[in-house]
Amino acid sequence: MAPSVEIRVLTTPQELFGAAAEEVVRTVNEAVSERGRFTIALSGGSTPKSLYNLLATNARSTLPWEQMFFFWGDERHVPPTHPDSNYQMANEAMLSKVPVPPGNIYRMATENPDAAAAADAYEKVLRKFFQLGPDGVPRFDLILLGLGPDGHTASLFPGTAALQEKSRLVVANWVDKLKAYRLSLTLPVLNDARCVTFLVSGTDKAAVLKSVLEENVPGEQYPAKLVRPEDGKLIWLIDRGAASELSSKG
Ligand code: 6PG
Repeated sequence: MAPSVEIRVLTTPQELFGAAAEEVVRTVNEAVSERGRFTIALSGGSTPKSLYNLLATNARSTLPWEQMFFFWGDERHVPPTHPDSNYQMANEAMLSKVPVPPGNIYRMATENPDAAAAADAYEKVLRKFFQLGPDGVPRFDLILLGLGPDGHTASLFPGTAALQEKSRLVVANWVDKLKAYRLSLTLPVLNDARCVTFLVSGTDKAAVLKSVLEENVPGEQYPAKLVRPEDGKLIWLIDRGAASELSSKG
C-alpha cells in the first residue's frame, strides 16, 4: 500500500519547528489515547535540536512524558558524553529538561568499541520492548528523520551495505567517507512505522531535496527515497529555503 505522502512548506525555520512540535504533540496524544503509550525514534544531526527545545519548553507541562518511550534512528560510534553523540544532543535539548522516567529512554550503547555488537545489543532491546519474535519488526508511532546533503537519512548513506539489509533491525554501517561506523535502524524498521516525518531546513538542502522529491534518481544514491512506510504516513516538513528548488514551492 503506497504511503500517504504529505509535503508541507513552512515559511521560516521557526514556523517549521512550530509545525513539527504540533505534529509530535498530535501524534503523542493519538497514540496514548489509542494504545496507552507513544514510541518515537529520534533523529540526530543539527536540524531537530530546535524541535526538541520547543517540546521541552512549550509542551513540558502538557505532554504525558511517563507514557512516552524514546529510541534513536541512528547514532555515531562515540560514547554518550561525546559532542557528536545524537543521544547527548537530544538529552541536553529535551530529555534532561522534562519529567520522562529514565527507564523510558533507550539509547544505543555506542560506547562499546565493537560497533556490530552494539547494533546487535540494540536489536535485542527493540525485540524485548516491542515483544517481537525472531521475524518481527517494531512499529514505531513516529520516526523523525533528517536529510543529509548527499541524500542520506538516519545513517543510511549512499552506496553503503545497510541499504541492502532486509531482516536485521539495527546495523553497524561502515561509512567510507567518514572512515567510521554508524549505527542505524534499517529500512524494514523505517518502513514499518505508523508515521515517518522528515525535517528539512535551509537552502543547503534545496538541491538534494529536489532530487529526492522530484527526480527519478535511484534510491541507492539517494537513500531518503527508499523511506516509504508501507502502511503509514510520510510527512515532509520543510522550510522555504529547503523548498527553493522545488517546482511546487508551497
Ligand atoms: C545524523 C543524522 C543524520 C542527519 C542528517 C542531516 O546522525 O547525522 O541522523 O541522518 O539527520 O545528516 O543532518 P543535519 O540536520 O545536521 O543537516
